[in-house]
Amino acid sequence: MNTYHLTTFGCQMNDHDSERIKGLLESIGYSEAKSRDQAGLILFNTCSVRESADSRFFGHLGDAKRLKREDPSKLVGVGGCWSQSLKESLFDEFPFIDVAFGPGQIHGLAEFLAAESIEAQGYFDFEGFSGDLPVKRGDRLLAWVQISQGCNCVCSYCIVPSTRGRERSRNPDDLKLEVESLAADGVKQVTLLGQNVNSYGRDLASNQIIDFADLLKMVDEVDGIERVRFASPHPKDMRENLVKAIADLPSLCEHIHLPLQSGSTKILKAMKRTYDRQRYLDRIAMIRELIPDCAISTDIIVGFPGETEADFDQTLEIVDRAGFDSAFTFVYSPRPGTEASQFDKQVPHDVKRNRMIRLVELVQRRARERSQRFVGSKLEVLVEGPSRTDHSKLRGRSRHNKTVNFEGTAAPGDLVDVEIVEATSTTLSGAEVLSSRLASV
Ligand code: 5AD
Ligand code: SF4
Repeated sequence: MNTYHLTTFGCQMNDHDSERIKGLLESIGYSEAKSRDQAGLILFNTCSVRESADSRFFGHLGDAKRLKREDPSKLVGVGGCWSQSLKESLFDEFPFIDVAFGPGQIHGLAEFLAAESIEAQGYFDFEGFSGDLPVKRGDRLLAWVQISQGCNCVCSYCIVPSTRGRERSRNPDDLKLEVESLAADGVKQVTLLGQNVNSYGRDLASNQIIDFADLLKMVDEVDGIERVRFASPHPKDMRENLVKAIADLPSLCEHIHLPLQSGSTKILKAMKRTYDRQRYLDRIAMIRELIPDCAISTDIIVGFPGETEADFDQTLEIVDRAGFDSAFTFVYSPRPGTEASQFDKQVPHDVKRNRMIRLVELVQRRARERSQRFVGSKLEVLVEGPSRTDHSKLRGRSRHNKTVNFEGTAAPGDLVDVEIVEATSTTLSGAEVLSSRLASV
């Protein structure tokens, strides 16, 4: 029996790509091994967004090298963004790797496995699209739907445009069929994925033009899908018609992830984000006006080249004002081949660290304060399973994307009302309102 083991690094898009890698392998007779040393095919789906992602992966790659030395019949395969970013030198630097493929070339793996010879092979074209590959879903109730691949932005810090290529939107009819088939399979929530979801549709043929707001309407109409989320939109394309659609469509959750990156107009310009501080704040104000009580989360980079104390203060000031419900915070990491890695005035490591500590402290304080608005209220929760910290309790998510741990009797997939009694910066806790069962699997 052919067996594989796959380790995934990076973002939701990579998690979803890994579902496709597994689906593809199982469709050609492979089965999943419990651990790496029991697998004939050792695979990694890699990330290269920050240096820390690279270094985490190297330990695992060293382990695969050792296993292959002990048993040379094992095959080692590396997919994803790190692989794509090293395509020129990968086989020279890591001669024990048998197959390498970029994010758009998952099917190259099947080609390699079907080939007569097992000479090392690399698959790095941007042409292919993996959307039609079978998927082995990691979750029964929650599913990802990839609506586009690639990115046409030119953010000066970011490696993704070079690892995932130009933006291509998937055909809306295919997407509709995919969401319908997920609903038929019992899926309750879909998360639409793209590098820049709200530019969806611009590259489609003229007889097919639909925009992201139209796509949301289409997905909202699919029976059985109770909740729709999406990641990630770009502030530059966050127009009023889209925010209105989110406000009006019943399955669209009251949560928007809107990456800020920096609160300083000067730094945003150097990042090539194409919006300034005021435009970002205007977007937040529009969301707050049209979707009362919307949860807003964000991504922030500290220590971008040239960031002064005054620039950083502007970031802190937006965090204080905008009222983010959560924020992913990153220390700027120069990535090979990106424009910003060549900029002068790289910020010293200890300055970056110090700013990070101050930022995280503020983010957490504001998130904790924001969370208190839920205490005493009843929230609709989609039940996912037992609580991770206390097995006598259940765990689910609110429409605002907060994890909710609660006492109750509901089953996974149920939508229930939960009375919230306590809130931290990241989780809510409470008890099920017992007469409130809204739907069941
Ligand atoms: N350094 C630090 N953070 C980065 N991100 C992307 N590239 C870098 C980099 N070079 C962050 C951005 C992005 C998130 C996915 O990762 O905040 O939104
Ligand atoms: Fe995802 Fe970016 Fe990492 Fe690629 S480099 S896996 S797109 S986070």
